[in-house]
Amino acid sequence: MSTTAQRLSRRVRELAPSMTFALADKAKALKAAGRPVISFSVGEPDFASPEVVAAAAKEAIDRGETHYTPVRGTPRLIEAIVERTAQDTGYRADPEQVLVSNGGKQSLFNLFLAFLDPGDEVVLASPYWVSYPAMIQLAGGRAVPVAADPARGFRLDPDEVAAAMGPRCKALLLNTPSNPTGAVLDPGDVEALVRLALDRGVLVVSDEIYAGLLYDGAEHRSALSVAHPGVREGVVLCSGVSKRYAMTGWRIGYVVGPTDLVAAAAKLQSQSTSGACSIAQAAAAAALREGEEAAAAMRDVFARRRRVAVDALQAIPGVRVPEAKGAFYLFPDVSSYYGRTVAGRRIGGSLDLSEVLLEEANVAAVPGAAFGADGHLRFSYALDEEQIVEGLSRVRELLARAEPAAAAKPAAGSGR
Ligand SMILES: Cc1ncc(COP(=O)(O)O)c(C=O)c1O
Repeated sequence: MSTTAQRLSRRVRELAPSMTFALADKAKALKAAGRPVISFSVGEPDFASPEVVAAAAKEAIDRGETHYTPVRGTPRLIEAIVERTAQDTGYRADPEQVLVSNGGKQSLFNLFLAFLDPGDEVVLASPYWVSYPAMIQLAGGRAVPVAADPARGFRLDPDEVAAAMGPRCKALLLNTPSNPTGAVLDPGDVEALVRLALDRGVLVVSDEIYAGLLYDGAEHRSALSVAHPGVREGVVLCSGVSKRYAMTGWRIGYVVGPTDLVAAAAKLQSQSTSGACSIAQAAAAAALREGEEAAAAMRDVFARRRRVAVDALQAIPGVRVPEAKGAFYLFPDVSSYYGRTVAGRRIGGSLDLSEVLLEEANVAAVPGAAFGADGHLRFSYALDEEQIVEGLSRVRELLARAEPAAAAKPAAGSGR
């Protein structure tokens, strides 16, 4: 009998399990056991997909669209992606620049496999989405984080990014609006960062999957809209329908980028999944063409919830929360509670705090450590207003019982 270590590949053994899923699973188990859990851990809209989407899927089935599609996606969906991208960014792609995959996650996965060799580096902002380093590592590359300053709305400083770009740097990965911070990069910074990368011959991978979710007059600047002669060869947009149109379960994501890179990613896809679901592609085409009204209505609801959540978090002493203007996440700094004791447990960092919140207040929030920022917790506001108010008042009440840090002991564990 082989041991597990012998049986499993090094690739998998070295991979860290997803902390976000571990927490979500625990919250679900407690809920199933009858506990009144309020979960701020969700990374998806809680709305049903728009009616036009469901109708398009049913029509696709009735028309018998139940066969393999072209690997790159159906012509109808590709055309819809070209149109939507042109409307949103001003950049008109050729159909050969588009690849449809099973969710934005597979889009990114294909890309990293298509351009990374062992030891190649990808510079990205920290805090980062939990899957970026894992995907880069699986493709043999190395993630090089650059700290985005919470005190400046998680701004990514172009000078610091330039300093992080070493000789092995293959790509700059941008994510705006951001998961986990909800921050929207300043249009001027997007311009500067894209120019910097292109001038150095470094690929820009721009994950703009939350681009439709903006509040308080925030302006999103797509990397594809930057005026630079290298954009067509050097920028790849990654997006999808999951977040903007509440379609996480349909699993449709896409990239728009340089033809050689897109062809390479399509070649990989042809040997792995063969392409995305035919019915989901019909649904996604309808969303991109006719889903804006429904998307705007959902955005209005998120805007109200965001206000409620920001106010409630700001009312908790010692919690600092930047008023992030995008996606549906807030990423408060809770490190003033580290080194203190809550409900008899000493809080060493975000993992401890998230555990105590779940166990003592029945509130699930994702530890910032999962995103490379242990001083924070991530709260999603993709849940209804009543629950937001109730859940955050539970957090406030529990934290009000925190004992002060013992004067003699140094406060430990507040690392970022
Ligand atoms: C930043 C970011 N990019 C990409 C994705 C992928 O989304 P999906 O695979 O559901 O389309 C997610 C999902 O959580 C995300 O947060």
